[in-house]
Amino acid sequence: MTDKNTGPARALEPRYYTDREIYRRELSTLLARTWQFAGHVSQLPDSGDYFTVTIAEQNLFCMRGGDGRVRAFYNVCQHRAHELLRGSGNCRVITCPYHAWSYRLDGRFLSGPNVKSVPDFPRGDIRLTDVRMEIFCGFIFVNLDPDAAPMAEWFPGAQEELHEYVPDIEQLQPLLWLEIPEHCNWKVSVENYSECYHCRINHRTFSTGVVRPETYDIQPHGRCLRHTSECQNLEQLSYPVDLAANPHAGKYSSWFLWPAFSFQVYPGNLLNTYHWRPAGVDRVTVWRGWFTSGGGESKVVRDLAAQDRATTVAEDIRLVESVQRGLNSRGYRPGVLVIDPESGVNSEHSLRAMHQWLREDLG
Ligand code: FES
Ligand SMILES: [Fe+2]
Repeated sequence: MTDKNTGPARALEPRYYTDREIYRRELSTLLARTWQFAGHVSQLPDSGDYFTVTIAEQNLFCMRGGDGRVRAFYNVCQHRAHELLRGSGNCRVITCPYHAWSYRLDGRFLSGPNVKSVPDFPRGDIRLTDVRMEIFCGFIFVNLDPDAAPMAEWFPGAQEELHEYVPDIEQLQPLLWLEIPEHCNWKVSVENYSECYHCRINHRTFSTGVVRPETYDIQPHGRCLRHTSECQNLEQLSYPVDLAANPHAGKYSSWFLWPAFSFQVYPGNLLNTYHWRPAGVDRVTVWRGWFTSGGGESKVVRDLAAQDRATTVAEDIRLVESVQRGLNSRGYRPGVLVIDPESGVNSEHSLRAMHQWLREDLG
C-alpha cells in the first residue's frame, strides 16, 4: 500500500509509546472518549450492589439501583469532593464518609446533617454525576464522553455475532481472572494482539494447536478489529470439541473493541476476554477473564487458561517488553508496515487502521 506523497505506511514514531505528554493527552482525549470495560453484570446481582473502577485516572463506581437498573457515577461527593465508595459491596443509601451527606441509589441527594439551616438549600438540584454506560453481552462498558455514539455504532454487528458464536453469553460469569503486568506502553501490547504476522515464529502452541495460520485474517468493522481463523486439526486441542453443538464450534474468533478490550472465542465456543488497563506511559496491566455458564467450575477452561498463560501470554510478554526497550533506542527509525493488499496472516493492515483511529481520537 503506497501513498505517492509519503511512501508505504510505517510504524508510529517512538514518542507515541514513550512520551509522558502524549500519555497525558491520551488520558484526557482518547481514553476518556472511548468505550471502556468496567466490569460484569454478575458483580451486581442485587439492588445496592456496587463496585468501584478507575478509567482514564477517573474514579467511578457502578451500582444496581432499587429499580434494578445498573448505573455508573463518578465516585465523588457533591459537597466537598470526598470519595464516596471503596472497593465493592452493598448499601441501601450512599453515604459520604466526610460529613455524611447521603444519596439515593439513583444518585439523587437524600439528606445531610443540618442542611436545613441553609436558606434555599438546592436539594433538588444536587445529584451524583453520572457516566454513560452500556451493557454489552453482560459486560458493563462506560464512556466518559456524555455525547459518545452508542456501542452498536462503534462496533457494528459485534453484539449480534457474539450471541451467535457464544449462545449462552448472557448466562456467562467469570470463572477466573488473570492479571498480567507488562512493562510496555498499552499500545505496544494492543498492537501485538492485533497482528498475527509474528504468530508462526513466536507462538508454536497457538499456531499449531489452535489456529490454522494460513486462514487467519483480521478486518476492521467500524472500530472493531475482527479476527477470524479456521482451526488446526481439532484433535490436537487439549480438550474435546462438539462440532454439532454450534455452527461456529470449530472456529477461533475474536472481536477487538478499540481501544482496549477484546472478546476471544476458542474452539468449542469458549469465551475469554482481554482488558488492557494503562498504568503509566510504559506500564499496562492485561486482565484476562475466563468465563463459564453461571461461573461453574470447569477443568477444561482452567487447563486452557493455564496453557494460554504459559505459552501465548508468556511469549507475548517477552515480545512487547523487548519492543518497549527498542522504542527507547536512539538507533530506531519507524519501519515499513508489511501491508499485503490481499490481507491474510502475514499482513499488518490492521495496524494501519489502528493508527488512523489513534490519530483521530487523540484530537
Ligand atoms: S464531602 Fe461528602 S459530605 Fe462533605
Ligand atoms: Fe502474540
